[in-house]
Amino acid sequence: MGAFKSDPAPVAPSADSDGVDRRGFLKCMAWAGTATVWTISGGLLSSCGIQKAATQPSRTKDLYFVQISDSHIGFKGPANPDVTGTFTHAIAQVNALPHRPAFVAHTGDLTHLTQADEFDTVQQLLGTLKTPEVHTVPGEHDAVGDTNNQKYLSFFGKNSRGNGYYSFDLNGVHFLFLVNTSGVENLGVLGREQLDFVKKDLAGRSADTPLVVFSHIPLFAMYPQWGWYTHDSMEALSNMRRFSSVTCLNGHVHQLMSKTEGNITFHAATCTAYPLPHPGAPGVTVPQPVVLPAGELYGALGIREASYVVHPGTLAIKDDGLV
Ligand SMILES: [Fe+2]
Ligand SMILES: [Fe+2]
Repeated sequence: MGAFKSDPAPVAPSADSDGVDRRGFLKCMAWAGTATVWTISGGLLSSCGIQKAATQPSRTKDLYFVQISDSHIGFKGPANPDVTGTFTHAIAQVNALPHRPAFVAHTGDLTHLTQADEFDTVQQLLGTLKTPEVHTVPGEHDAVGDTNNQKYLSFFGKNSRGNGYYSFDLNGVHFLFLVNTSGVENLGVLGREQLDFVKKDLAGRSADTPLVVFSHIPLFAMYPQWGWYTHDSMEALSNMRRFSSVTCLNGHVHQLMSKTEGNITFHAATCTAYPLPHPGAPGVTVPQPVVLPAGELYGALGIREASYVVHPGTLAIKDDGLV
């Protein structure tokens, strides 16, 4: 539990928000004088059953949110001697944006070694974000020696299912937060339970419903030689192909890359910790943190702004380096 001073004008959750099974978010709870007291909470903003959400008519509205990724709190090495500092800087940059995001999504590798003090630090820092909600998925660094993500779930697991997946609706957009890291043996695996969840979750929804899907490891085959793909993503994606607008946002690879396959667009995000080699870099069999020349690290890190605009009905992505 932590409290943080924040800006006095946070955006209230939309009246149209009908959040379902959202978890791991931090919520603005109370006011103190002219400053807001931000309190870490695992509670629901509002909820209705998935079936109810599925049968409600879509009332899509413009929506703005932010993605951050791969903070690797606890990492120690020359590629970034102060990952807490760069993560804090990224959060300050988010808080300085001219528009308040409806939520901030962290796409995994919150910690470097799945340690309780690392989770605690990242949770405290996420609590300083000026946004009504923070959503997360775990990365493989949040599952070191922890095959069912139990440590991650103890910090960020409230109201999620299974190993941490969930979905909700906001402003007529349907969001899925999927887990493809549950320990080393499940690296790049969604698994039967989650695949069934995706199928059920999307069944009955109008094909006009915009979908935004978060995961740590890319759902597209970005570079299978390094494990930068999800073994069983095709089955999940097959349930999304009938939707007119599908955007998949991932972390893990610590660099920007986009790809479009039919109606589905994939965007890999940069990170706040350290760069990794580009796919196919000569002599690299296992990607390791890249040490940049002095002064170049911040330029390799960043945050992502995303705006869903009803007309023309697409998600616009803007990637910002740390400044
Ligand atoms: Fe990472
Ligand atoms: Fe990762």
